[in-house]
Amino acid sequence: MLSQSDLQQGRGMLRDWSDDYLTGIEEIDGQHKGFFEAAHRLYDYILNCEGEKAVEEAVEFLRDYADTHFHTEEAFMQKHEFPGLKHHKKLHAEFLESLDMLGDNLKVFGPSQHLADRALEVAQDWLIDHITEEDMQYAEYVKEHG
Ligand SMILES: [Fe+2]
Ligand SMILES: [Fe+2]
Repeated sequence: MLSQSDLQQGRGMLRDWSDDYLTGIEEIDGQHKGFFEAAHRLYDYILNCEGEKAVEEAVEFLRDYADTHFHTEEAFMQKHEFPGLKHHKKLHAEFLESLDMLGDNLKVFGPSQHLADRALEVAQDWLIDHITEEDMQYAEYVKEHG
């Protein structure tokens, strides 16, 4: 269960999709929305201590989704010669590492509140902050440079 202090700190809740996260690039926005759905599903599964198999499948789905999405973005940045590509690729690789670590921990320890919080952090930091801070940069660049 979530403690009062968790709620006060605004933890324990994965934010919903918002149009503030739109980059204006249709394919990428569609994938970002799918990402949110997958992250919510994973978080719910862990929090409700669904069977290990369900949790494992949710991690795997998110992992595959991230892989596909990152390839799409990296190809897009390359095509438009975005100068921050190398840095952006590094961030994507780090996200995949955090996700793998979470998946390993879930396999070893099973679902728990702690790992639900960890999933939340991974999803929140790497999904929402990454979209609003990093993805927006290439979106802006492409808008300006065509
Ligand atoms: Fe993205
Ligand atoms: Fe990205």
